[in-house]
Amino acid sequence: MRRKVIAGNWKMNKSPKDVEEFMERFPGLVSDTENEVILCVPFIDLCKAVKLSKGTNVKIGAQNMHFKDSGAYTGEISPKMLNDLNVEYVIIGHSERREYFNETDETVNLKIKAALTHDLKPIVCVGETLEQREAGITKEFVTGQVRNALKEITEDELKKIIIAYEPIWAIGTGKTASKEDANEVCKWIREELRALYGDVADEIIIQYGGSVKSSNAKDLFEMSDIDGGLVGGASLEPEEFSKIVKYN
Ligand code: 13P
Repeated sequence: MRRKVIAGNWKMNKSPKDVEEFMERFPGLVSDTENEVILCVPFIDLCKAVKLSKGTNVKIGAQNMHFKDSGAYTGEISPKMLNDLNVEYVIIGHSERREYFNETDETVNLKIKAALTHDLKPIVCVGETLEQREAGITKEFVTGQVRNALKEITEDELKKIIIAYEPIWAIGTGKTASKEDANEVCKWIREELRALYGDVADEIIIQYGGSVKSSNAKDLFEMSDIDGGLVGGASLEPEEFSKIVKYN
């Protein structure tokens, strides 16, 4: 049985002082869960979040990174820096980064390799637009994103990767994919992993993301191929996020 992994993505929200407030309440609310809990916070919050998560079951992730170790890349953060801070996870290829910051399948692949080199576990985001869904090319597009992201990644490396299926039309819109539709795409992703790597596909965590809240988490996370969620807006509030983490 695969474990359930629920990650919050705070996006560009909360300052270090808000981290303190959040971490005063949140770890206590989820200390009794067997599900894995991750908080992906802005770069400026990482130090405090890592410090305040010590001794709790909350793991900390970043939301992006550069693929180089160091150099003249003004404003960027390297995988080595994240590793030095004891950050454990990093979101790679979120649709907002693909849309607003020119991330491509190629940079996603480079970032995954760089993250793994520095002992960071990537949460790799894929997902189709509404136009692609309506044109009936969701399967082709999403499995293509998965294939391109994983170029030259070995089976052992794959085991450290989480895939997050986030249909773009469901992000921040209040429109959740139906549990059946979400599960169908997660199944297609697993079939693609099986075609590429064999039965290890059954061990890989595939999350759903897009307007997950405490009222729909259980329905989604109990589906056969959905192993938890990547949660945006609803991860900003400790009580609400803890209900999602403890959906079962
Ligand atoms: P919302 O949960 O706010 O729809 O965001 C989903 C998301 O993009 C998480 O990465």
